[in-house]
Amino acid sequence: MSRIQEQLSRGSGKRASRNRTVSLLADESKRLERSLVSVTHSVRLGDVENSIINEDLFDILDLLPGSFVDLMFLDPPYNVTKSFNGRIFKRQPTHGYLSWIADWLPRLVRLLKPDASVYMCGDWRSSGAIQLAAEKFFHVRSRITWEREKGRGAKANWKNCSEDVWFCTLSNRYTFNVEDVKLRRKVIAPYTDLEGRPKDWVRTTNGDYRLTYPSNLWADLSVPFWSMPENTVHPTQKPEKLLAKIILASSNPGDLVFDPFLGSGTSCVVAAKLGRRYVGVEIDQSYCCLAAKRLEMARSDRSIQGYAEGVFWERNSLYHRSKTPRSRPSRSDHTLF
Ligand SMILES: C[S@@+](CC[C@H](N)C(=O)[O-])C[C@H]1O[C@@H](n2cnc3c(N)ncnc32)[C@H](O)[C@@H]1O
Repeated sequence: MSRIQEQLSRGSGKRASRNRTVSLLADESKRLERSLVSVTHSVRLGDVENSIINEDLFDILDLLPGSFVDLMFLDPPYNVTKSFNGRIFKRQPTHGYLSWIADWLPRLVRLLKPDASVYMCGDWRSSGAIQLAAEKFFHVRSRITWEREKGRGAKANWKNCSEDVWFCTLSNRYTFNVEDVKLRRKVIAPYTDLEGRPKDWVRTTNGDYRLTYPSNLWADLSVPFWSMPENTVHPTQKPEKLLAKIILASSNPGDLVFDPFLGSGTSCVVAAKLGRRYVGVEIDQSYCCLAAKRLEMARSDRSIQGYAEGVFWERNSLYHRSKTPRSRPSRSDHTLF
């Protein structure tokens, strides 16, 4: 039994009632495995569209069609030693990590449409190599840094709680829907005009808020944990909210999102929830099944924690579901983001 199967079967046994971690039952895995796609010869887009390819990316890269991707989300193993369900990725000197990226990144360029965008994730140890590699093939437009508030403090170093996402495009023609990724923030300085009316902010029963344009510093994300419905046992799962920002800004409904290191499926799940098409590749079959299960769940629940009414909400802000204000809202009227 692989480590993840052990974890998953533990996950489906007795656990805290508020633990919402997505887990797989044995018969469910068999059913989900059948939905996975394998690629053994050159395929057309129709053969792989809206599917999860369970293969080693490096074996199938040259079998995929050309120019089909509008948005590519790259979340490869970072330059740290980490086990992905028993497959160990080993940390190496920066130049070694750079040449590992240089082995596969050029082969991905062929898959992109001329106006495609590319986002590439890393931590501080990986970022230097990512920037150098990305600059060879893309216009590097920004480095987003997001606060990854999780884990213990370090005793002899600064606690590591940030990650980067490099935003790149293939050309100067690209999609960027800035109005779709605004942030609803609490007002710190509630300036008013001479008549006492709020300047660029609104009063609500729940506090004062301002809609702001997004910067490249994201401090409103929660790393998935056990009581969040998107949580899985994948060790480096990205928040759905992070993907929602990227997908809304850099693609349009109907566009195709491609993720060659799919993991637990976050990019494809969010793409589906937001009306985009998707293709994901993941080497590990158990992770593929988790992704497939999340995609099934997304058919009946399109919600994305932290994103509602077309805006992103600050972490831990109270979102009112109820349209009709009451003097004392009930617990079910609220979601804590
Ligand atoms: C950083 S994780 C991605 C996490 C993902 N973004 C999520 O939200 O769950 C990287 C993933 O790449 C997969 N992987 C590593 N090498 C691969 C390869 N050669 N082909 C396909 N997948 C690979 C790993 O199994 C792991 O799940």
